[in-house]
Amino acid sequence: MTTMLQRMQSAKVLPVVLVETVDSAIKLAEALKRGGIKTVEITLRTACALDAMKAVKEAVPDVVVCAGTILKQSDLDDVAKIGVDFAVSPGMTVNLIKHAQEIGMPFLPGLSTPSEMMAGMELGLDCFKLFPATAVGGYNLLKALASPLAGINFCPTGGLNPDNYTDFLALPNVACIGGSWMASPELINAGEWDKIEEIARQTMSRID
Ligand code: 3PG
Repeated sequence: MTTMLQRMQSAKVLPVVLVETVDSAIKLAEALKRGGIKTVEITLRTACALDAMKAVKEAVPDVVVCAGTILKQSDLDDVAKIGVDFAVSPGMTVNLIKHAQEIGMPFLPGLSTPSEMMAGMELGLDCFKLFPATAVGGYNLLKALASPLAGINFCPTGGLNPDNYTDFLALPNVACIGGSWMASPELINAGEWDKIEEIARQTMSRID
């Protein structure tokens, strides 16, 4: 079974996207793939999000589809039915973690304090999304967590950009990073697939 850490290490970079149409989701996934990005987080923030996840899974099967903006248990049920590869939330509750475990959905909860991390660890998790990363201390917070919470891996998301993402990836407790700059809503809605491919390529070219 693929662990969450393996998923994160394999992705390295996780574009967080909002898609308004199924067709744009497919074209986006293809553009990211051409640029070397292998995983996409499609957020549950648009009406077509579930259809888009399903369509990308079918049309671009070698792109890993992660469901983002999981807020409640029924969201986990909805994305599990589609067969997404894993699910991400901006927050963490014990109920959400337990429900994800009950239905067998790999889950990356978002959090920002050691107490939340320890609550997640008590439930067996060792990977978390640090959110909103730069607003809660970002790089310095992750550095401070490395020793007391050894063995815990993070995907910092929120406020990352082309100027700082490689610094985050250089931290030993960062397995991947997330962000919207690789495929902003503006670029997606304008159908700027070549531009998104180029940003993806540039982003990946700066990673070891
Ligand atoms: C989000 O949930 O929108 C992500 O955290 C993306 O954050 P960013 O736009 O700051 O990259």
